[in-house]
Amino acid sequence: MANITWYGHAALKIELASKTLFVDPMLQNPNSPIKAADVTKADLVYVTHDHPDHLGDAFDICKRTGAVFVAVYELAEEAAQNGVKNVARLNVGGNYSLGEVKLTIVQAVHSAKVGAPTGVIIQGEGLTIYHAGDTALFGDMKLIGERYKIDLACIPIGGNYTMDADQASVAVEWLKPKTVFPIHYGTFPVLAKDASEFKEKVSLRTPDVGFLELKPGESYSLALKQKPI
Ligand code: NI
Ligand code: MN
Repeated sequence: MANITWYGHAALKIELASKTLFVDPMLQNPNSPIKAADVTKADLVYVTHDHPDHLGDAFDICKRTGAVFVAVYELAEEAAQNGVKNVARLNVGGNYSLGEVKLTIVQAVHSAKVGAPTGVIIQGEGLTIYHAGDTALFGDMKLIGERYKIDLACIPIGGNYTMDADQASVAVEWLKPKTVFPIHYGTFPVLAKDASEFKEKVSLRTPDVGFLELKPGESYSLALKQKPI
């Protein structure tokens, strides 16, 4: 079983196979109920790209907890230059294993100042979680959906910098996850303020896909063959 906690925007904590992972821990986000200093345990931090709303507090968390910073090569190198001791330098297509948890870096269609934008597939305990990072809709999401049986797809829906509700509902059709979890909305004025339009479109386009909606700070237990109501 995986325990997923959302801190608003793209920031997740994933507890899986006895490891504590953070993805895109931007905790200065006013919607986050915790601050970086509250994070006392982390084994791994994955950052999808270097934009500040994703890199967030990653360096600080890694330095205080000793967590390994995992990212695309150039961004991981920047972490090392900023004093992070435990760094894994990967690139798109690369795998990284920590205990029973396996990460695979996949493409994202977006921009970055350092390195390249990415998404990540996280596997453990027979579960597969996809965090899409910031991305446009892209055709290879169909291949990701074919290659992986995704239990939970965390995808951006806010528009402006990423897919909007309509595009994201097509992504759900292509990724074929058991459950979708919308992220990257409600944080900045240019983003969709809530997930209602996306929820409506998913219910029309892919009614068999479970829909997970959390408030910042809330957690969800993801088990095999389980869908939220
Ligand atoms: Ni971005
Ligand atoms: Mn972003």
